[in-house]
Amino acid sequence: MPAKAWFPTYVYEAPLQGRGAADFARLLLAQCHEVRQSDSEGQLWCRDNYPAGYTSYGTLRGLHRSFPLFAKLEKKIWRHVQRFARRLDMDLLEANLAMTDCWVNIMSREAVHPLHVHPGATFSGTYYVSTPAGCSGIRFEDPRLEKSMSAPPRLADCRRENRRQISYDVQAGNLVLFESWLSHGVASNPTVDERVSISFNYTWV
Ligand code: NI
Repeated sequence: MPAKAWFPTYVYEAPLQGRGAADFARLLLAQCHEVRQSDSEGQLWCRDNYPAGYTSYGTLRGLHRSFPLFAKLEKKIWRHVQRFARRLDMDLLEANLAMTDCWVNIMSREAVHPLHVHPGATFSGTYYVSTPAGCSGIRFEDPRLEKSMSAPPRLADCRRENRRQISYDVQAGNLVLFESWLSHGVASNPTVDERVSISFNYTWV
């Protein structure tokens, strides 16, 4: 076939660590509950802005600076971010890439996170703390969609790389990384048990 693919969009998914993953996730789960418990301002904010869910995004967005366990998580994530940046052939020598934001998301049944991007950041991602069976995955949308002014729809059985949207099933102990301009979201969560995750931004400064 004479056609080649250029300008790929990468999504990185890997287990955060090899051994001790379940224990570490359990410790973080307790900490996530504590964050919610202590954040009455955030709970109020979520009542209006995040129905059926809690996020510390509006109130406690620097958890890696305030809690030793989140700082430990940042160190583990950093290894993956470096690996991902190498895969993208990014030259990071001229500047520093650092975690600038880190926050908790707890989604009960019917909580939704519409498609969005993270302006100003370089990499964004999520580490999954608790993922009840059947909970919503993370969805990504083709970043060129708005430029496709007269493209026909894709065939139902089109190649994976030609899909306009893809979804990753999420699993506790795994993390997903992507460039912050990539549109992503979470469909209405169907599980009664809470889906718990920690999201973060890395910014090139
Ligand atoms: Ni996001």
